[in-house]
Amino acid sequence: MKEENTINSEKLPQHLAIIMDGNGRWAKQKGFLRTIGHENGATAVKRTVEQCARLGIPFLTLYAFSTENWNRPKFEVDMLMKLLVKALKKEVKTLQENNIKLNAIGNLDLLPATVRKELTEVLEKTKNNTRLTLSLALSYGSRNELIEATKEICNKVKNNIISVDAIDESVINKHLYTHNLPDVDLLIRTSGEQRISNFLLWQIAYAELYFCDVLWPDFSNEHLLEALKVYQNRERRYGKTSEQINK
Ligand code: IPE
Ligand code: IPE
Ligand code: MG
Repeated sequence: MKEENTINSEKLPQHLAIIMDGNGRWAKQKGFLRTIGHENGATAVKRTVEQCARLGIPFLTLYAFSTENWNRPKFEVDMLMKLLVKALKKEVKTLQENNIKLNAIGNLDLLPATVRKELTEVLEKTKNNTRLTLSLALSYGSRNELIEATKEICNKVKNNIISVDAIDESVINKHLYTHNLPDVDLLIRTSGEQRISNFLLWQIAYAELYFCDVLWPDFSNEHLLEALKVYQNRERRYGKTSEQINK
């Protein structure tokens, strides 16, 4: 794609995370049921994953279902779970062809058995792929993740496996669902909402945030390129001065 040439491949985010929001509003605007919005959202997922692989972004994390989303009407939750099973079955081929490794983060025990079964199969089939790690955040909540990590670390202290003084950032990282992922460099949220909604609170400490108005099913390759261009023009200072960064 011609436009992709305008992106500096040396300055790509290593870890891109996306809050895919706006499926419901997309459907409503067109007079459809919300579920049609989710189906079209799945097409946008496929498009985005393939583009990230093509561009050479090594880690992509997509917020697909939050712990809070369990509180939606049963009909919508059931439909989302069915859609997930269908997409996993259908897209395993795409993942293999593109050398993409699937990863899942969240409280997966809460997922229906049908989802867990399909997920386990795809995770196993793609585990040796190396081009891109696609993490799906499913039944994911960042506070819940931090609570679980805290409990595990406390148990290790109690059993003299680690000392209190040894607890540092890397120990915390190691106990998160994201232990095998680098920090997020760029976080995109679609649909015009400007909030984090309990997503990767620890991991986005120094991420660049990018909000755009487009509803998720309409998020195109051009929208992602625009976000990447903006990201590449940001100066990441990590507390230092601009002069220190540019010397
Ligand atoms: C995002 O779209 C998908 C999920 C949260 C599963 P929404 O369903 O939140 O769409 P809006 O925000 O109602 O438009
Ligand atoms: C966040 O979207 C979760 C996902 C995108 C999966 P929501 O639409 O559920 O977020 P809030 O509740 O409006 O903040
Ligand atoms: Mg929403």
